[in-house]
Amino acid sequence: MKNVFDYQTEWSGLQNRMARMFDPDSGRTVLLAVDHGYFQGAPAGLINLRETVTPLLPYCDAISPAIGGLKTSLDPKTRTPIILRATGGNSMRRPDELDDEVVTVSVEEMVRCNAIGFTVSCYIGLPGQCQTIESLASLSDEAHRFGLISIGITAVGADPVLTKFVKGEREDGGELTADDKKEAVRYLKHACRVVSENGADIVKTYYCDGFEEVVEACLSPIVIAGGTKRPTKEALEFTFNAIKAGAVGVDMGRNIFQNEHPVAMIQAVRAVVHEDKSVKEAFQLYEEISKG
Ligand code: R5P
Repeated sequence: MKNVFDYQTEWSGLQNRMARMFDPDSGRTVLLAVDHGYFQGAPAGLINLRETVTPLLPYCDAISPAIGGLKTSLDPKTRTPIILRATGGNSMRRPDELDDEVVTVSVEEMVRCNAIGFTVSCYIGLPGQCQTIESLASLSDEAHRFGLISIGITAVGADPVLTKFVKGEREDGGELTADDKKEAVRYLKHACRVVSENGADIVKTYYCDGFEEVVEACLSPIVIAGGTKRPTKEALEFTFNAIKAGAVGVDMGRNIFQNEHPVAMIQAVRAVVHEDKSVKEAFQLYEEISKG
């Protein structure tokens, strides 16, 4: 006996694109972020973008470059899905204005590049808050007509207090206090929810202690950025903790491409994200691969 719901009546491009970047078994993703040059210039590990990404491509579920990096350094024959950085207009040369970001890539250009989705930074609590939320909302609205995935990022620019929360350490490199940790959860919980409510299909944010609360309060699935380069074990540890707390993957850059052994590191990150490996197991895998 059949009923009407046994028939598929609608094909959704958005769902199909999500299925391309999320592993069907784990339901999670390892997205490789290589878009940093759009405001950082030429950071370590990305000077020669093509050389960096080529060996990593087989191990990521999707890759996130800026438009210039995509056109100059990615092989157009790649089968790896593309998530395009869609906002910019800022640069580290003017650190106080990092939150002054605008839309730099049109939806038409995303389609022309065959991107499956895009990222937009939202600077919640900073002067650029309104314009960057507007960028997310309007781009999501337009891009959803074509079934593209919208990823909203909770970005903090150079703000000293917020930077401390996303780095997980004080300005002098010391540990966050208990009050700092509480405030970090409060901030990230608020920022993620705002980004989610304004149209992001996926929210990208930073890991903090108490991350379960951030995940619980966010209506959209969360992936974590890696932030500044950490020792290998530490990076695997926060990845493990984020997944355990409910993140559906990573959108990680520097902790992979600035690692001494990027190909080993991305495979170790995959083991945590997709296979629920422990930090010890993933680190062992990292050592085996890096020793060749
Ligand atoms: C900012 O540069 C971009 O949004 C990056 O894609 C993001 O910060 C993720 O890269 P990482 O893991 O290096 O923080």
